[in-house]
Amino acid sequence: MKRTAIGLLTLILGLAGTASADISTIVEDCTGCHGDDGVSQWSDVPTIAGLSEYYHGDQLYLYRDEERPCGDSEYRQGDMSGQTSNMCAVTADLTDEQIDAIAVHFSEMPFEAATQEFDATLAAAGQVIHERDCQICHSEGGSVADDDAGILAGQWLGYMETTLAQYRAGEREQPGPMQKKIDALSDDDIKALLHYYASQQ
Ligand code: HEC
Ligand code: HEC
Repeated sequence: MKRTAIGLLTLILGLAGTASADISTIVEDCTGCHGDDGVSQWSDVPTIAGLSEYYHGDQLYLYRDEERPCGDSEYRQGDMSGQTSNMCAVTADLTDEQIDAIAVHFSEMPFEAATQEFDATLAAAGQVIHERDCQICHSEGGSVADDDAGILAGQWLGYMETTLAQYRAGEREQPGPMQKKIDALSDDDIKALLHYYASQQ
């Protein structure tokens, strides 16, 4: 009896050890593209630190199901430097448990607004559009992770430009009321919004 109990305990501890080792290896792979602690230094790659656990996990499920576009991208640093992959390939073999643990991990890292150039006149115009059309769901300029709608304020402009183009082309799923607002915007409106989000540093 006693030996079985110890055997079982060893097995459980062993499995727990393997699971956490897995997560740190996976997280390290993410930072090869998304930057140390999930804070990106590259305009075409989003910062993933500080996204809400719910939003982050949800996006990983969408990528795993290939329900969100996955553009190819190169690893910027680390062992895989220079190799190409994409978010669908990255998430293809993750279990639900791993996805949930990864989402928790990055939600605990602080979001850092990108240091980037912006046009102040466009940013002012963008703020008016944001407050009229977007603020109701993306509160405080789109800076509140708990809205479970990503973080727009201080996100990289290159990434935001790509993802807004995907929304406008109907390639990325969005809530109905958001789609109505997005569809009504002109190219100039989108540009102004991009500079407004970039201006929040
Ligand atoms: C080969 C580079 C690469 C790797 C590795 C990578 N990502 Fe990404 N990731 C990207 C790029 C580029 C985008 C944005 C473009 C897109 O959606 O395809 C992105 C988008 C995301 C988004 C969406 C952000 C948002 O605000 O909606 C999340 C979340 C994310 N990645 C998490 C992760 C996690 C977690 C890992 C590790 C398990 C990871 N990524 C590994 C390149 C990478
Ligand atoms: C009815 C609420 C609502 C409105 C209005 C709305 N959004 Fe959203 N938005 C959301 C939700 C919810 C998500 C997250 C969708 C998901 O889980 O994939 C989101 C996601 C986004 C994202 C992706 C964030 C990321 O990290 O990739 C962008 C960009 C965005 N919205 C921009 C806008 C803009 C610009 C407007 C105004 C023109 C707007 N939204 C209006 C609810 C809204």
